[in-house]
Amino acid sequence: MKPIIRTEGVNRYFQTGRETLHALKDINVTINPGTLTVLKGRSGSGKTTLLNLLGALDKPNTGKILLNDRDIAAMPERGRDELRRTEMGFIFQAVALISLMSAYENVEFGLRVAGYNSKDRKRRAEECLSFVGLQKRMHHRPHELSGGEQQRVAIARAIAHKPGIIFADEPTAELDTHMGIQVMKVLRDLVEKEGITIVMTSHDPNIMELADQVFALQDGQVIVE
Ligand SMILES: Nc1ncnc2c1ncn2[C@@H]1O[C@H](COP(=O)(O)OP(=O)(O)OP(=O)(O)O)[C@@H](O)[C@H]1O
Ligand SMILES: [Mg+2]
Repeated sequence: MKPIIRTEGVNRYFQTGRETLHALKDINVTINPGTLTVLKGRSGSGKTTLLNLLGALDKPNTGKILLNDRDIAAMPERGRDELRRTEMGFIFQAVALISLMSAYENVEFGLRVAGYNSKDRKRRAEECLSFVGLQKRMHHRPHELSGGEQQRVAIARAIAHKPGIIFADEPTAELDTHMGIQVMKVLRDLVEKEGITIVMTSHDPNIMELADQVFALQDGQVIVE
């Protein structure tokens, strides 16, 4: 199988004052399409830093990040921005829904930004909210939904423009076990039914069981356990 993402010798340094922190050290990972990959490791081990690099939200100091063989680290900002808008979807730990908008409007708004016409927006927003099991709660605002439901709205929004790959930074961290399982079911379904590739970070051992591949990070390095 041809990998969707491959990194070659990725290093990321952060400069704070006079100190240099070597946050990622020679990262070489391969991710196949239609799989769920989890990045795990202690707080500060580099999970979010790596996720942000893979999702073209940040650039490495050295090394390549190949998305379908294109080095996104070497692309100009406009191209990276375009990639994020069209080929990638993002889900974050603290759900960032717009509080004045209903679940439906949150998803529809994303499609507006992506340039969908009004008929397609309606159809696709309803389809995605149904996929995450929220067809009956579509017109509720975020504060009228549980944490797990809000996170599922965030998933619906992340998949609405049909990205091939989704990046999720601890999408279940703020949820209780039950809601976390619901959200993971939806993510797993996306991989099985839609062939989407998911890369996520997590601390939760239960989640590792649902992964096709787990990378353990320790002090900025991928370690073999
Ligand atoms: N913008 C930044 N400037 C300076 N240091 C940073 C920056 N971002 C991350 N770091 C440092 O890089 C290291 C890795 O951080 P990262 O956020 O990737 O960890 P993490 O594994 O996601 O941790 P957590 O589980 O707490 O989210 C940490 O030591 C962190 O302090
Ligand atoms: Mg993190």
